[in-house]
Amino acid sequence: MTVRIAVFASGSGSNLQALAEAVRDGRIPASIDLVVCDKPSAYVLERARAFGIDTYLFHPKEYSSREAYEEQILGELSKRGIDWIVMAGYMRLLTRVLVEPYYGRMINIHPALLPAFPGIHAVKQALDYGVRVTGATVHFVDGGTDTGPILAQQTVEVLPGDTEETLSARIQAAEHELLPRVVRWISEGRVKLDGRRVTIENE
Ligand code: GRF
Repeated sequence: MTVRIAVFASGSGSNLQALAEAVRDGRIPASIDLVVCDKPSAYVLERARAFGIDTYLFHPKEYSSREAYEEQILGELSKRGIDWIVMAGYMRLLTRVLVEPYYGRMINIHPALLPAFPGIHAVKQALDYGVRVTGATVHFVDGGTDTGPILAQQTVEVLPGDTEETLSARIQAAEHELLPRVVRWISEGRVKLDGRRVTIENE
């Protein structure tokens, strides 16, 4: 059965683009059925429409709590039979309303080699620290900030003279390879989670 995916994003959506192209080209045997977004001006909405993907835009300020809008989102996911959630630049903290039902079926992409530099401004954190190697991580989402079990990582070298912009651009290029690869594993049913350990069958 085809895995049904929802992508959550708040920004440009270049990772959604990479995933949608991989699905369109038959490299990922899944369907992206929904994009969930909290920002009306986010470019990800245009990218979704260009691929004919449904969007669910919500306005956090119209709700009394995070739990309240997550209940609403959960309803949208159930309606469409969403199996897996991919967080790609979704800039909001999650509550147990979404984390509990989707634990083990919800991943996030983070622009650093976790557990180094979790949270926001990860690329700047890495540059300021002075590491020579950073990268991107795809991990399961748990209740913490970028703390869940790791599925895959890709290293990116920090070059002399790098700025946040130049380094971010190379990390993003790495993400656009890494995330579709992980979503392909998921779609092929090859990912097993055991405590903090993740195994990929026939990797
Ligand atoms: C990515 O760099 C991802 O690591 C971070 O947010 C960024 C999203 O970029 N969580 P985009 O919206 O997919 O272009």
